[in-house]
Amino acid sequence: MRVGILGSGLMGGKLGTIFARAGHDVMFSYARSKEKLKKLAREAHGNARAGTPGEAAEESDVLLLAVHWSRFEDVLRQAGDLSDKIIVSCSLPMNADDTALVVAHISSGAEELARMVPKARVVSAFNTVPSEVLFGVFGARGSATRPSLVYCGDDRSGKRVAAELIRDVGFDPVDAGPLRIARYTEPFALLVAELAYEGKGGPHLAYRFERMVSSR
Ligand SMILES: NC(=O)c1ccc[n+]([C@@H]2O[C@H](COP(=O)([O-])OP(=O)(O)OC[C@H]3O[C@@H](n4cnc5c(N)ncnc54)[C@H](OP(=O)(O)O)[C@@H]3O)[C@@H](O)[C@H]2O)c1
Repeated sequence: MRVGILGSGLMGGKLGTIFARAGHDVMFSYARSKEKLKKLAREAHGNARAGTPGEAAEESDVLLLAVHWSRFEDVLRQAGDLSDKIIVSCSLPMNADDTALVVAHISSGAEELARMVPKARVVSAFNTVPSEVLFGVFGARGSATRPSLVYCGDDRSGKRVAAELIRDVGFDPVDAGPLRIARYTEPFALLVAELAYEGKGGPHLAYRFERMVSSR
């Protein structure tokens, strides 16, 4: 698949690199320097390029949205027309200092995104794992047991594509249902992040926690 990365930081940089190594055509976009995007593309050691959000949107079948909530409007404006595009969002609707969700209970960041781009096919995925574990999961993808990863969305073909990407990273995709289920997965993702970054065990503790929950 041709995968456009909107937001090439911790999540976008790592997932884009993994998608390229898994055989997809990747375009990294949206960072503060073009040099960083070019470096990511070079070091992905796969089929990867640097571009603008507009080029990523135009030249991709699926987009990974990996930006802070405060950057949504800007990156979507730069991406242009996203009608019919599959957008897999790992972004969480966090406040400015990343201490709380700004959308919760009666909506979710994923549903708000779907309202911002009503003709796009939005899937929420990858936000329940700390970026630190992604390369480890990819490295162990051939092992007998794969860790689970939940995703949700309303568009069937978008979800099929997301599930394929999830599998390519090395997870077993678990369909959690329609997009409104993000009202539950987003607070869960925040809990995992708190365990990862504030608990003693670090990202791997949070990751094992997700494995334990999803295997029940
Ligand atoms: N990190 C995690 O473990 C994790 C886990 C689950 C979910 N998430 C969610 O995933 C999303 C992305 O998180 P992240 O940790 O990947 O964030 P990040 O490392 O800060 O990446 C955000 C990207 O946006 C770019 N950006 C920010 N301001 C910009 C501007 N003014 N112009 C152009 N580009 C700009 C950054 O550019 P630079 O590269 O130049 O800084 C970076 O490439 C967030 O919604 C977060 O809540 C993160």
